[in-house]
Amino acid sequence: MFFLLLSFYFTIPAFAAGNSTSNSTHILLSCGTSETNIVDSNNLIWIGDGTTNYISKIASKTSQWPSQNPSVPTIPFNNARLFSSNYTYTFPLSPGRYFLRLYFYPANYSNLLASDSFMTVTVGPYTLLSNFSAWITVTALNYDYLIQEFSINVTSTTLNLTFAPSTKHPSAFAFINGIEIVSSPDIFSISTAYDADGNNKIFSYDEGMAFQTMYRLNVGGQSLARSQDSGNLYRSWDDDSNYIFGAAFGITFSNDPNVTIEYPPNIPQYIAPVSVYETARSMGPDPHINLQYNLTWILSVDAGFYYLLRFHFCEIQYPMTKPNQRVFFIYINNQTAQTQFDVIAYSGGIGKPVYRDYVVLTVGSGQMDMWVALYPDLSTKTSIMMQF
Ligand SMILES: *[C@@H]1O[C@H](CO)[C@@H](O)[C@H](O)[C@H]1NC(C)=O
Ligand SMILES: *[C@@H]1O[C@H](CO)[C@@H](O)[C@H](O)[C@H]1NC(C)=O
Ligand SMILES: *[C@@H]1O[C@H](CO)[C@@H](O)[C@H](O)[C@H]1NC(C)=O
Ligand SMILES: *[C@@H]1O[C@H](CO)[C@@H](O)[C@H](O)[C@H]1NC(C)=O
Ligand SMILES: *[C@@H]1O[C@H](CO)[C@@H](O)[C@H](O)[C@H]1NC(C)=O
Ligand SMILES: *[C@@H]1O[C@H](CO)[C@@H](O)[C@H](O)[C@H]1NC(C)=O
Ligand SMILES: *[C@@H]1O[C@H](CO)[C@@H](O)[C@H](O)[C@H]1NC(C)=O
Ligand SMILES: *[C@@H]1O[C@H](CO)[C@@H](O)[C@H](O)[C@H]1NC(C)=O
Ligand SMILES: *[C@@H]1O[C@H](CO)[C@@H](O)[C@H](O)[C@H]1NC(C)=O
Ligand SMILES: *[C@@H]1O[C@H](CO)[C@@H](O)[C@H](O)[C@H]1NC(C)=O
Repeated sequence: MFFLLLSFYFTIPAFAAGNSTSNSTHILLSCGTSETNIVDSNNLIWIGDGTTNYISKIASKTSQWPSQNPSVPTIPFNNARLFSSNYTYTFPLSPGRYFLRLYFYPANYSNLLASDSFMTVTVGPYTLLSNFSAWITVTALNYDYLIQEFSINVTSTTLNLTFAPSTKHPSAFAFINGIEIVSSPDIFSISTAYDADGNNKIFSYDEGMAFQTMYRLNVGGQSLARSQDSGNLYRSWDDDSNYIFGAAFGITFSNDPNVTIEYPPNIPQYIAPVSVYETARSMGPDPHINLQYNLTWILSVDAGFYYLLRFHFCEIQYPMTKPNQRVFFIYINNQTAQTQFDVIAYSGGIGKPVYRDYVVLTVGSGQMDMWVALYPDLSTKTSIMMQF
């Protein structure tokens, strides 16, 4: 029996609205409005882009959403800025890493059809979204709205964020409902990421690398709202159960009452909130059954990109206190990314979080399923020492 906690990423203050200190920024921009002091359901304060200097001199239209959809939060989705030509927002920022979140609610704004929106979104030299249709994406996923999250490294004192309507599609337009920028510590290259082929080769980060978040899952626990995140990063964490393959859900559990989560000095609390480490999913208690299946998550991704998978672990229940009690394999896309993973051996004890990063290159194009699986390693039961 074993468990994991997993989050999942893919690669590629001067004017701060809301709360900021001298070196931390949190901009919450509601696009297409000149209102100020817009308070959302998380008690975060948004500001209309029309009241700021971030917007471009180029003319753009604004629109309120045409129909009230009760499943869509009004902030920031109740208005949009619409672009028929390239349009750039310019943010003065201190150099460093930031989370950039783009909020899209594809609707028939003004006399435009939601299905005609195709856009490319760039920050400086980096293309974040290419020929992107929020409408096609929400339709495929059966969502109402989308929040696309990126981690970017700003190396100068301005960030230019450009929305470019497609020139290939007739009457294409671009639009945006909300833009959020949050300063972030370096949460990726501070740790070592290994190639997912099990050779323990270290993946080398490019300093300027931009990441797009594909999934961030709180395994064995509930979804966590932005306000429940650590490090003032306002990340949301989703319930993993929608991604489990087949009927083998294993069991979910939370920490024993006498186990408190204690972050070791090398794991800052902003890596993940306590709630992520306090819940887990494992296979059931019967080793004979467990040997017959892999506990598997299936995550739909775009082929042709590098993906970074960050696995968060923490032993949270007695009697799991010693090495060799729970040892398992980690498979990514049917390759053995890790043999003999032993949470206690890595973390140093019960209640101590640890995380591990793997990078996998997916080949081909179009959508594909990323397979993430765990399997118990019983061969170590008799061994006295394990080496890592
Ligand atoms: C802000 O600056 C202080 C002092 O330079 C530093 O200790 C702290 O980590 C910085 N905070 C952030 C969020 O970058
Ligand atoms: C800003 O900080 C104050 C005091 O710490 C807090 O009461 C308020 O909720 C914060 N506002 C936002 C938008 O985070
Ligand atoms: C937009 O209008 C078209 C044509 O009237 C309609 O078929 C479509 O369902 C509308 N789309 C949305 C998202 O409301
Ligand atoms: C953009 O995407 C649409 C819908 O997937 C596709 O039909 C079109 O060929 C794409 N255009 C370009 C230039 O890639
Ligand atoms: C952003 O755009 C402005 C105006 O075009 C330009 O002066 C500035 O150099 C750009 N900044 C970056 C980082 O590209
Ligand atoms: C608009 O942006 C697109 C995508 O970045 C670029 O290819 C195009 O040259 C830009 N058009 C103009 C007129 O600047
Ligand atoms: C951001 O880029 C700068 C300059 O290329 C580099 O020195 C720095 O290490 C990078 N920071 C992160 C967090 O990637
Ligand atoms: C914590 O509680 C468990 C039972 O839930 C017990 O087995 C264990 O010995 C306790 N540990 C400590 C340190 O009290
Ligand atoms: C992994 O193996 C399963 C069958 O065991 C197969 O259906 C799936 O396509 C494979 N996934 C990848 C990414 O190779
Ligand atoms: C678990 O997944 C691995 C990698 O895809 C595969 O080799 C193995 O046969 C699977 N085991 C079971 C019991 O399905």
